[in-house]
Amino acid sequence: MIPPGETIGILGGGQLGRMIALAAANLGYRCHVFAPEADSIAADVCAQFTQGAYDDEAALAAFAAQCAVVTYEFENVAAAPLAAIAPHAPLHPPARALEVAQDRVNEKSFVEGLGGRPAPWAQVDSAEDLRAAVARIGTPGILKTRRDGYDGKGQWRIMQPADADRLELPAKPLIYEGFVTFQAEFSVILVRTATGDVRFWDSAENVHKNGILDRSTVPAAPVILAQVEDARALAKKVADALEYVGVLTLEFFATADGPVFNEMAPRVHNSGHWTIEGTLTSQFENHVRAICGLPLGSTALAARGVVMDNLIGDDAHDWPKILSDEANHLHLYGKAAVRPGRKMGHVTRLVL
Ligand SMILES: Nc1ncnc2c1ncn2[C@@H]1O[C@H](COP(=O)(O)OP(=O)(O)O)[C@@H](O)[C@H]1O
Ligand SMILES: [Mg+2]
Repeated sequence: MIPPGETIGILGGGQLGRMIALAAANLGYRCHVFAPEADSIAADVCAQFTQGAYDDEAALAAFAAQCAVVTYEFENVAAAPLAAIAPHAPLHPPARALEVAQDRVNEKSFVEGLGGRPAPWAQVDSAEDLRAAVARIGTPGILKTRRDGYDGKGQWRIMQPADADRLELPAKPLIYEGFVTFQAEFSVILVRTATGDVRFWDSAENVHKNGILDRSTVPAAPVILAQVEDARALAKKVADALEYVGVLTLEFFATADGPVFNEMAPRVHNSGHWTIEGTLTSQFENHVRAICGLPLGSTALAARGVVMDNLIGDDAHDWPKILSDEANHLHLYGKAAVRPGRKMGHVTRLVL
């Protein structure tokens, strides 16, 4: 058990780290952010900050030596250099979870091995592979980079085979996925302790715009609620197989044939931001509790319903209007520059 007063290390300097740090502060912990950028919105609310590259083993070791436990808010960190942390502090969730989740081929193979069902997919390393994948799986489909994708970046829609021929392939490992005809999208967010205690939050219905999460709504539509049990069973298998500690997210498509696995994130997730006001214990607080070995808090709803809207790009300028409605909970992440497609904050409303 890591008692309040100790220091939690966070790899990654973005809004998820910021919200983990705020929850940790409420429990009496100090946080130390490690991130490559000079300006970190997570470090802005933390006691300590190390600016370093994610593959700088000496810097990682020196950082870990000042922490009682290390976690991450960002999965596109090379897993091998993280071995430098182990002699100094436990890493939760484990590096194995990163290795699996940061590569779409690993992630889909891993989940299939546990009985999960993703969209039909094929590894693509050449134009020839892509032609073969399109011939086998058909169109429409989506070509994605295996690594480093987020908010719909690194994705190309292929509506007909000719699109594949015209595409200038990026020199990166790729994956081709068949397009899933879904009725809705949802996520399963769970927290697991080192002793195997698992709790789930209600599943939010997620609507994406341009590949970026736009709105999460709880309760989800009936078509989703009917599939949550199966999806949770898969998420628990993933967590147990990885001996996972902390918050884990799996995204699903609700289809006429049941849940289709989309992707996983070995961390707190944008589709769980509504838990800050909408549940008795937020994803951020239970993540801290789990990695520190504290008892978990209840994930029960604090309202009849919850709606969370992301503030993307210029939406952030609407804060005066948002605050003019006293029922809105406004969260701004403190990012200096507004850019199109950039997550600047979110707004949560409870249905009481
Ligand atoms: N195979 C697919 N079929 C249908 N829609 C998809 C598929 N893959 C991605 N999408 C849409 O694009 C969104 C973002 O894709 P995702 O694979 O989750 O990437 P990211 O890592 O950027 O979140 C999904 O939430 C979904 O709306
Ligand atoms: Mg996604």
